[in-house]
Amino acid sequence: MSVGVPVLDSDHKTLIGLINLLQRSIGDDEEYAAVGSVLQALQDYAAHHFAREEKMMEACRYPLLERHHLTHDGFVERVQALKVRYDEDHSSVRARDCLTFLNGWLINHICTTDMNYRAWVIGHSGALAAAAGLSMAGNGRKAEAIDWPSLRVLVVDDNVNFAEIIRTILEGVGVTRLLTVHDLAAARDALGGQGWDMMICDWHVGEESGLDLVKWVRRGPPDVAALPILILSGHERMTNRDLALLAGANEFMEKPVSARNLLMGIGRLLA
Ligand SMILES: [Fe+2]
Ligand SMILES: [Fe+2]
Repeated sequence: MSVGVPVLDSDHKTLIGLINLLQRSIGDDEEYAAVGSVLQALQDYAAHHFAREEKMMEACRYPLLERHHLTHDGFVERVQALKVRYDEDHSSVRARDCLTFLNGWLINHICTTDMNYRAWVIGHSGALAAAAGLSMAGNGRKAEAIDWPSLRVLVVDDNVNFAEIIRTILEGVGVTRLLTVHDLAAARDALGGQGWDMMICDWHVGEESGLDLVKWVRRGPPDVAALPILILSGHERMTNRDLALLAGANEFMEKPVSARNLLMGIGRLLA
């Protein structure tokens, strides 16, 4: 499936990862939040990736740019319509229809339409520079300043799909040092073992509370106690931002999260 430009191949991998996650989220006990987050991340990534591709095609004066741009617009509109319908009534969006469309797009667009620019961009330094110049994290200045590849992130979430969504979003901006744990005991072990730059923790981790972990961290030795923490919550009626901040969290976000908001939230967290 390679289009010959590593940064675009990496975008495509993220998009394919999100499509796979959408499939896996069906039937999840937090399905609404998981599917909502995947759709939201898909929207964010598609917009970012299309902008990147179009800048690159423009740089090498690709003759089919206009037609390609229209197919990108068509994708954005369909995902947007899906998301609107999902937000209104999540049971109205049938996973199968949604995946039929996305898999069709994967074959008809990534594997076909995108391949047409391959010969134009390979070895074109202007096109490669244009593609590399746009970053998903570049939407917020604070997020742009982060050295993502060296960031050590601990993710605590009992929901495997949701943890994978976070992993996919973060790997998409270059994070490689990420550990996911699914309960508080494993989180405490991980926190004692090595230095972390930040922790993303679910409010409800199985029967346990992520806020208890936050309090435990804040009572720890100085290097652990200063850890920047982002709390996520998928049960908005039972929780609130003030309680999370009072427990010692630095940031609070409700699921479903968008890729853009998550990256900007991390930017604020680490600023
Ligand atoms: Fe593409
Ligand atoms: Fe494309």
